[in-house]
Amino acid sequence: MSDLAIRTTNLTKSYGRTTGRKTSRTTVLDGIDLSVAAGEVFALLGPNGAGKTTTVNILSTLQHPDGGSAEIFGLDVVSQAGAVRPLIGLTGQFSAVDGLLTGRENLALVAALAHLPKSEQRARVEELLERFDLGQAAAKQVSTYSGGMRRRLDLAMTLIARPRLVFLDEPTTGLDPRSRRTMWDIVSELVAAGVTIFLTTQYLDEADALADRIAVLDGGRIVADDTPAGLKRLVPGARVDLAFASASDLDRATGLWPGAHARPESLTLSVPGDGGAAHLRQILGGLESAGIEPSGLAVETPSLDDVFFALTGHGAGPVEPAGTPGTGEPDAPAGAAAPADTADPEADQGRSTDAGGRLGGGPPTSISTPDTTRKDTER
Ligand SMILES: Nc1ncnc2c1ncn2[C@@H]1O[C@H](COP(=O)(O)OP(=O)(O)OP(=O)(O)O)[C@@H](O)[C@H]1O
Ligand SMILES: [Mg+2]
Repeated sequence: MSDLAIRTTNLTKSYGRTTGRKTSRTTVLDGIDLSVAAGEVFALLGPNGAGKTTTVNILSTLQHPDGGSAEIFGLDVVSQAGAVRPLIGLTGQFSAVDGLLTGRENLALVAALAHLPKSEQRARVEELLERFDLGQAAAKQVSTYSGGMRRRLDLAMTLIARPRLVFLDEPTTGLDPRSRRTMWDIVSELVAAGVTIFLTTQYLDEADALADRIAVLDGGRIVADDTPAGLKRLVPGARVDLAFASASDLDRATGLWPGAHARPESLTLSVPGDGGAAHLRQILGGLESAGIEPSGLAVETPSLDDVFFALTGHGAGPVEPAGTPGTGEPDAPAGAAAPADTADPEADQGRSTDAGGRLGGGPPTSISTPDTTRKDTER
């Protein structure tokens, strides 16, 4: 098996759309190349309608690509779909839980569908109910659950068969900050256990906090693919902030860099640059040669919001008219679902958005990104 959990090569997908008598095709994925190492947390970002769910559906064998190829642990998602499915789990964008069943019954159903040995099924269900803090509510009908409880149950169902790769399509959309944290903790636990995570999200702070690598999907293409720090360095605005113990140190340091901006009232100096290691070395070297010891140092980089707006140029609104959720979504965990390529013109609709620093739902607010810069180094 490959060390790569996911590899896509020139992946393409378009959907048919019928307007009156005319049928046209809308290209959603226009040649996507991605590779995700085993054990990595990979986040796919993009505005509404960018094709994140389509990508997840193709990678999780629910839809077929039109062209190109996609492999999961070296197995082709189309020709070897049957071998791919036991390795993966999917928590889809829209809940897969059955509201008429209890939490325990939902899990038991998935355990049976996943062909877990009968002797193991019961213990696994109870273990997950406990781990996801659903023990108390296990015997209650899911229709009485809160959104956060449903989402936790959804994820528990995804994990029943211990997948090596988990797809999480907007796992925390609509959750309150506490439930989001719980979800993040669960993701971290999975990663510690060696599970690879492929995440889509519109919360930039979520990608920042969880992902080793982030790709931005826009206009059918990957417009950036880097670490969170690397992405932030793509847009101008990074700087190194230095603090000094005396006005004379500040003055002397200010003379070292023509573009530097001194703030005498706080004895600080901002030196613009990319905020990378070389930039930092150059600054520290300059200070050392001049015999100046800073009392503090912080690297300030642009936020992912800045990066997103710079890369896509249209972060403030959906790329398509807003509407109700489409019907081309998975409605069962990947392990249990049959592949279904639903090129349904009726489904060509946008997605609703909510507030809280999400992409495509209006300008980012500070609700979910209270501190969009990061102090990487301080002393
Ligand atoms: N089954 C389908 N039939 C026709 N068009 C579809 C279908 N599924 C998705 N689309 C269209 O493809 C585009 C990409 O949709 P997709 O759901 O992959 O986007 P997304 O990035 O997940 O968006 P969101 O952030 O709103 O979840 C949209 O224009 C959507 O309307
Ligand atoms: Mg989606």
